[in-house]
Amino acid sequence: MTNGLDGVTAAETALSHVDGEAGELIIRGRHVEEIAGRWSYEEAVAHLWGSTVPLPARPLPAAIGEGRAAAHVAFAPLYGGLADLRPVERMRLLLASIGDRSPLAEPAHLVGAVGTAAAAAIRVARGETPLAPDPSAAHAADLLRLIRGEPASVAEAKALDAYLVTIIDHGLNASTFTARVVASTGAGLPSAVIAALSALKGPLHGGAPGPVLDMLDAVASPDRAVPWLTAALDRGERIMGFGHRIYRVRDPRAETLKRVLRPLAGPGNRIALAEAVERAALAVLAERKSHRRLDVNVEFYTALLLEALGVPRDGFTPLFTAGRIAGWIGHVAEQEKVGRLIRPASTYVGPLPEPRAAA
Ligand code: COA
Repeated sequence: MTNGLDGVTAAETALSHVDGEAGELIIRGRHVEEIAGRWSYEEAVAHLWGSTVPLPARPLPAAIGEGRAAAHVAFAPLYGGLADLRPVERMRLLLASIGDRSPLAEPAHLVGAVGTAAAAAIRVARGETPLAPDPSAAHAADLLRLIRGEPASVAEAKALDAYLVTIIDHGLNASTFTARVVASTGAGLPSAVIAALSALKGPLHGGAPGPVLDMLDAVASPDRAVPWLTAALDRGERIMGFGHRIYRVRDPRAETLKRVLRPLAGPGNRIALAEAVERAALAVLAERKSHRRLDVNVEFYTALLLEALGVPRDGFTPLFTAGRIAGWIGHVAEQEKVGRLIRPASTYVGPLPEPRAAA
């Protein structure tokens, strides 16, 4: 028995495979770096779903766009009640309004609806009113406009596409497993998604890219990187954005995100500082933690990329949800096909009853 179910195989999936030793993430037969930065999110969703999730009769981008627009209309009466909630709680409230028989519960529509909920959660945090989606726009470009209120450049939309594709699915992580457990009870797709979203809210799921930016704020200039990192390790702290529970080599997603970050101009792009911190951290960690290979992880360049795109720090988890929703939907469909209730055993460690008196 392991408390974290480490090493326990609980499902078969054709959606994604994570090989931590080789540093590989395979999305239905393709390496993630082969498709991220090259395909739109909608193309990656169609590829991920394959024949597992039924595609709509109309083109997938149009169906996702319809979902964004219809969700905005459906969510509008709820926007007034979001102010006092945290970003993921806002999404939970909006998405909980989708019933099993709602047209928004259809997979492509749900992808759009989650994007609308993410953008609304981010805007409300800044005291701004959620904007109406453009159903004819590409998903990443429209999400950026909905979040920031201004149109995205081609490079910005491509960068967000790359981010959404890198995080589209990642094996049986906690939120995905949660979705499968709920799906196995026959509760239906919207309920499985709400449960997955609730699992994602916890700080232990994937870590938060926010602390990477706090570290860059504190380092402030490339020449301060080595002394700052050395002092942090002396205090027994961990360097944010380095190391991974599964990957023992470089996280394959980090390089892709760095590649699409590079062409984004503007003061929000701190890639020069980030590269200096990365070089310094790899050197300091190799010296101080020589018994353990520690490399950059996906959170490091996610933080940089989303910051350069003008996404506020408390919007990172909502936007992650907007990408991961396709993976959750795929896993729910797979689990529904399996059709067997997930019901593991537990080891009883409580007190034993008194022996029964002989009759
Ligand atoms: N900075 C400094 N040291 C680190 C480190 C980091 N980012 N990550 C691991 N280590 C060290 C530990 O201190 C430990 O050293 P010790 O043997 O001298 O005590 C050793 O590496 C093994 O640590 P362990 O906790 O067993 O590694 P793990 O694989 O379970 O940890 C993480 C994985 C992600 C939790 C860990 O690398 C971490 O905390 N990273 C920083 C936070 C982060 O970036 N999170 C996002 C992950 S996507």
